[in-house]
Amino acid sequence: MVTKGEVTFENVDFEYVPNKTLLNQFNLKIKAGETLALVGASGSGKTTLMYLLLGFYKVQKGKVCIDGVDISTINTGLLREQVGMVQQECILFHETLRYNLLLAKPKATEQELLQACKDAQLETVLQKLPEGLDTKLGGENISISGGEQQRVAIARLFLRNPAIVILDEATSHLDGETEKEIQKAYARLCKGRTTIIIAHRLSAIQDVDCIAVLNKGELVGYGKHENLLNMCTVYRNLYEYQYNKEGVGAKDEAI
Ligand SMILES: Nc1ncnc2c1ncn2[C@@H]1O[C@H](COP(=O)(O)OP(=O)(O)OP(=O)(O)O)[C@@H](O)[C@H]1O
Ligand SMILES: [Mg+2]
Repeated sequence: MVTKGEVTFENVDFEYVPNKTLLNQFNLKIKAGETLALVGASGSGKTTLMYLLLGFYKVQKGKVCIDGVDISTINTGLLREQVGMVQQECILFHETLRYNLLLAKPKATEQELLQACKDAQLETVLQKLPEGLDTKLGGENISISGGEQQRVAIARLFLRNPAIVILDEATSHLDGETEKEIQKAYARLCKGRTTIIIAHRLSAIQDVDCIAVLNKGELVGYGKHENLLNMCTVYRNLYEYQYNKEGVGAKDEAI
């Protein structure tokens, strides 16, 4: 299956619990190769939309499509090849880095593993590991930080090479340097793929192709940062909340 990576939510109804509607006739289109940021207060439905795209839950009505094909008709294994997600909490096994990477692509060559580490800004981390790829993570003296874990998750995505990637944007627990490394890896990962960023800090997404604003499961804004500031009250409130929280410069406060 050759995927271009266009994603559409078409008249989607969804509820986790009966009679507690979260999405009602929800529509959203993400063009192939575009970067879209999803924003909205906690509980507005950002993660839910991504779980529907990943096939973790089924819609009650309507459909979620990739390149026009209803994902409920796509075999789960194939779907997972097309859509990859980096979450803030990434599961690493108490095994070697090699083992943890090969989970993404069991037949990857040495060259591919090293390239994925490079692409994910893991090279300096790799150099510090006494036995390189064959160092057991979490073993004696080999603790791996949250930011490094996230980069291992990014390296896995480079190996899997999906057409669509979902990034759960880093929140404030990362230090500035680590965050810069992750942003660089993300920028490389986004190239040539449809990218959906679940954004917590509006300051980090002002240059994306498009921003979708959610409020209680409803799409209440869609467009570029400047337009949304003028046209979308929910967006403006989110922005002003972050901006004013601790005075000018506090736009970096995560929501
Ligand atoms: N497994 C679940 N069962 C029942 N309700 C759920 C479940 N997961 C999420 N919800 C509810 O669905 C709504 C949307 O949740 P969701 O996690 O998609 O929000 P979000 O925008 O990702 O929030 P956050 O910014 O906090 O991550 C919330 O009201 C939440 O309580
Ligand atoms: Mg969420």
